[in-house]
Amino acid sequence: MCSQKKLSLETIVAQAGNRQDDNQAVAYPLYFSSNYRHSSLAEAKAFDPAKGYTYSRLATPNRRILEETLAQLEQGTAAFAVSSGMAAIQLTLSVLKPGDHVVSLDDLYGGDFRYFRYLESHAGIKFDQWNGEKTTELVAKLTLQTKIVWLETPSNPTMKELDIQAVADAVHGYNPNILVIVDNTFYTPVYQQPLTEGADVVVHSATKYLSGHNDLLGGVVVVKDDQLAQEYNEYYITTGDTLDSFDSWLLLRSLKTLDLRVKKHTENAQAVVKYLENDPHFTKVLYPGKGGMISFYLKSVADVAKLLDHVKIITFAESLGGVESLITIPYYQTHADVEPEQRQRLGITPQLLRLSVGLENPDDLINDLKQALEH
Ligand SMILES: Cc1ncc(COP(=O)(O)O)c(C=O)c1O
Repeated sequence: MCSQKKLSLETIVAQAGNRQDDNQAVAYPLYFSSNYRHSSLAEAKAFDPAKGYTYSRLATPNRRILEETLAQLEQGTAAFAVSSGMAAIQLTLSVLKPGDHVVSLDDLYGGDFRYFRYLESHAGIKFDQWNGEKTTELVAKLTLQTKIVWLETPSNPTMKELDIQAVADAVHGYNPNILVIVDNTFYTPVYQQPLTEGADVVVHSATKYLSGHNDLLGGVVVVKDDQLAQEYNEYYITTGDTLDSFDSWLLLRSLKTLDLRVKKHTENAQAVVKYLENDPHFTKVLYPGKGGMISFYLKSVADVAKLLDHVKIITFAESLGGVESLITIPYYQTHADVEPEQRQRLGITPQLLRLSVGLENPDDLINDLKQALEH
């Protein structure tokens, strides 16, 4: 008997798509066909949708290879590749019915709150928030109607880390059927695999680190429970928010360097943090020690415009997780739709900037920040 050890993440990503193609291609080819021929009525009647292909909303070869890789990376049993991070979030919340209740962390990507408000007003779903501190306070917010606890760690944009296992234990101790869902966009499976820490569902904006090149929009959902996978699959193939073949191919190709990229993002971010912490223009740096995302406060309001208007390498643009460094001002961009009182409570002020440290030389990035502040 041949026993094979579980593969490490580096091997899974490097080998993704290899040994899968009928023509023995090493790099899995791109299939552009929207439909697939049946060989006979008998074959059509016996068709197994989990194995073959009929129509590309249901499955495509590129999406299937990608989804199998993503499920492996997050240690789940099934993955869904969808057209954006928001589509992924929509898919995870598709199990909710009017009257259901959700508790979320209070410090999340701003678009989450926009969607929560939509579901509150259009679908009769109730939302509560938790500040991420005491799990007893989270449990006190759970009710018989609670179906989902929604987390993002590190939190966004104030970069606080949560103990996923402790939260999942507390929530499942109250009711094992409540789904603990974690947005793993910032850390990626390189640093965090929430399904191994008690979470039920993982979500990504694949637009960020998973694709990593600022060139595609995508989302991912990974689950470990077969029944939930079936429920999501039904919604997914019916509504059709699927990732197309080209972006599936591009995302698989990008995943091959995920491990390398994410570790280099950390190395660069740590160097930039050292500079930020020692330059008097900045009053506070929020960085959890790993990953490429840094939030920081500028001492002077005037310096905010100086920095955003004059960076020459770092780009003032929304999004994150790509090879090119990007800087954003959450107050006016990613978190503009968060209630003003909530922004104030979380410290999302017009002096808070968020930097996605790319793969440039870190000295060039530091010099870019310095020269911008000299104007
Ligand atoms: C952490 C996080 N989750 C989800 C999303 C939504 O993803 P998308 O923009 O791909 O729809 C974003 C977008 O910025 C994000 O930062």
